[in-house]
Amino acid sequence: MQETQHDKLQREGFSSSLGVIAATLGSAVGLGNIWKFPYVTGQNGGAAFILIYLIATLLISMPVMLSELMIGRKTNANAVGALRKLAPQEPWFLLGVSGVLSAFLIMAFYTDVAGWVFSYIFKAAVGTIHSTSPEQTYAVFQGLVSGVGEPLFWQIFVLVVTGTIIMSGVAKGIERVTKILMPVLFVLLFIVDIRSLMLPGASEGLKFLFDPDFSKISFSVVLAALGLAFFKLSVGMGTMTTYGSYIGKEEDLPRIALKVMLSDTLVSIMAGIAIFPAVFAFGFKPNDGPSLLFITIPMVFSSMPFGRPFMVLFFILVAVAATGAMLSLLEVPVAYLVEEHKLTRRVATLGTISAVALVGSTATLSTSLLSDVMFFGKNMFDFYDFLTSNILLPLGGIFFALFVGWRWGYQRMFTEFSNDRHLKNEGFAKIYFFLVKYVAPIAIMLVLLAGLGFLKL
Ligand code: PFF
Repeated sequence: MQETQHDKLQREGFSSSLGVIAATLGSAVGLGNIWKFPYVTGQNGGAAFILIYLIATLLISMPVMLSELMIGRKTNANAVGALRKLAPQEPWFLLGVSGVLSAFLIMAFYTDVAGWVFSYIFKAAVGTIHSTSPEQTYAVFQGLVSGVGEPLFWQIFVLVVTGTIIMSGVAKGIERVTKILMPVLFVLLFIVDIRSLMLPGASEGLKFLFDPDFSKISFSVVLAALGLAFFKLSVGMGTMTTYGSYIGKEEDLPRIALKVMLSDTLVSIMAGIAIFPAVFAFGFKPNDGPSLLFITIPMVFSSMPFGRPFMVLFFILVAVAATGAMLSLLEVPVAYLVEEHKLTRRVATLGTISAVALVGSTATLSTSLLSDVMFFGKNMFDFYDFLTSNILLPLGGIFFALFVGWRWGYQRMFTEFSNDRHLKNEGFAKIYFFLVKYVAPIAIMLVLLAGLGFLKL
């Protein structure tokens, strides 16, 4: 019985090229674009931060993403199993273990924020957040996060929805949901952008987004940009390794990585254009932090015709985007438990979501009951976020890059890169290999050490 389950997982995969792009993009596009990118940009000074983020994405996080996709597809296995297959009897599998742990910790706070989004669908529908008064939208958000029962309920709701989809089959469930909803999200974001740009004082927001001021840049800012670049493309923790294992041998992985990176970046910038003009127009501060999305966006919708139904639709789509990313997070420990520990998919999923609910509740309650509990000067929510984005994912990135550059080697990498075909032009493969062999490990290491204050440059 367990063997059948295992075999089924091994054989199942994404069924079409479009499905592959949708699912991979479904993992990349999520709260990271619409919630995290704008608020972290706001906290770190705007355009100059975005520029560094773009460089980190192009030169570091995208090459790591491609490395993970290749490792996963080559081995057809979960993050731990993949590295075990490629380097048996060597400690590389620990990189997969660290990925499983990272996925778990990210889910702890991600489900909290996803829960806020789900609750906002209802708040938008009944009109609680239909207001152009900053005090009103701010008060609603504060009311939510300082509560206990309401945010916990929504967090568990998110876990149950995601767990149900994951239990009902790997690729097919994921693929079907993301293929339809990604394009709709895109269109809606475009509408919000137009409205936001028409607000009086919008130009101030655009200046903040596109006119760099490098005086705000420090190593901790660069580390935040690098961490965001990893978080955004879901790399450094085995998600793309796991998804790579569901991708067919004929798919062009470099092209997938490029497309996903470009589309994901576009969605982030579009979210920035939706939010920052409104921040300035309504007199908020760009460095208001995690609440930014939840207090500004309702005001943009409330100031436009048919704002209420549009706002409901917007939060539905953000919820869907968050769910797509959640599916990929949950898939990492589930695939690991099923393949390495021979659990059934059902037991693996139920066990993981129960554990996330337990640990995640400490993130959710960090703005209420547990607000006095601090780790390294941060509440639990911020601690999980910092530990994953700014430490575990960059560390994972270093080792994935080192693995391909130094352990796997060019020839084996190139076979996977080119789908075992003779390419006339190896230029892109050579550039990619140079990036993962030298540039990524050295750059990440320096930024990590300097950003955490261990190295004075
Ligand atoms: N990339 C997702 C987002 O931007 O919302 C978050 C995420 C998903 C991070 C999956 C890591 C991951 F493995």
